[in-house]
Amino acid sequence: MILQIILFTTFMLVLLYLILIAIDDSLITRTYQLKTKKFKENQKLKLVLLADTHSFGFGLKYQDVLEQVIPLEPNLIILGGDIFDDKKPLEATDRFLDELQKLAPVYYVSGNHEKIAPDYPQMVELLKKNNIIIIEDNIILEKYNILLCGLDDPRSLDKTIKPTETNLKSAKESGLYKIFLIHRPELAKEYLDLGFDLILSGHTHGGQIIIPRLANGFFIHGQGVFPKLAGGLYEFGDTTHIISRGLANTVYFPRIFNPLEIVYLEIEGT
Ligand SMILES: [Fe+2]
Repeated sequence: MILQIILFTTFMLVLLYLILIAIDDSLITRTYQLKTKKFKENQKLKLVLLADTHSFGFGLKYQDVLEQVIPLEPNLIILGGDIFDDKKPLEATDRFLDELQKLAPVYYVSGNHEKIAPDYPQMVELLKKNNIIIIEDNIILEKYNILLCGLDDPRSLDKTIKPTETNLKSAKESGLYKIFLIHRPELAKEYLDLGFDLILSGHTHGGQIIIPRLANGFFIHGQGVFPKLAGGLYEFGDTTHIISRGLANTVYFPRIFNPLEIVYLEIEGT
């Protein structure tokens, strides 16, 4: 009997220990290196993707994000949606954006939590006040030989987004390196035939739970259980799709083997 009690207690302690080391709310920078023939041989673009900060209303401090972004010295910063939350105060994000725009030009596409928020117009005002460029169509950055194309998030999951004529035309005809920003990755498949070199998304929060080697994400609103596009790098023909696992939770559920992440990309010419 005593032996059984000792074995049971040991088992429970080991289980508790495993759960504690699996819960991960740390902040990391995840780096991807991409190559393209569309850049000159020595050209290198350093890009930071930040998604799903949710108004810094779920524990993460904006200063900690800045601390990791500053040494990266990015050429461009992309905000991939849900930077604001629909229920949290906006002040921390206002201060964050003010600091961020001092580092590099910052581009933004909206996320679903922003588009459903009653105070979305105030969010837009804050973005504009802080010199954040809202991508509603497309922008050509000749200095970097890229075309940045983004789509506003549709308000509800069942609405189909339609890119404008200009978006379609530029994406198909341009010889530039084409980057497409869309908050919800599951919506990107509609646009794969437009020949984008790179698609950037957020929204997934990494599917909350990662079981190394077994499951890259457990659940995502819009994709369901064991989602296909939970986070990381995906290849679709000549298109690379990078999905940020985000910088916050919106539910009080632990992230398992799924740290908060800043995405850092180096794109180099070959
Ligand atoms: Fe989202």
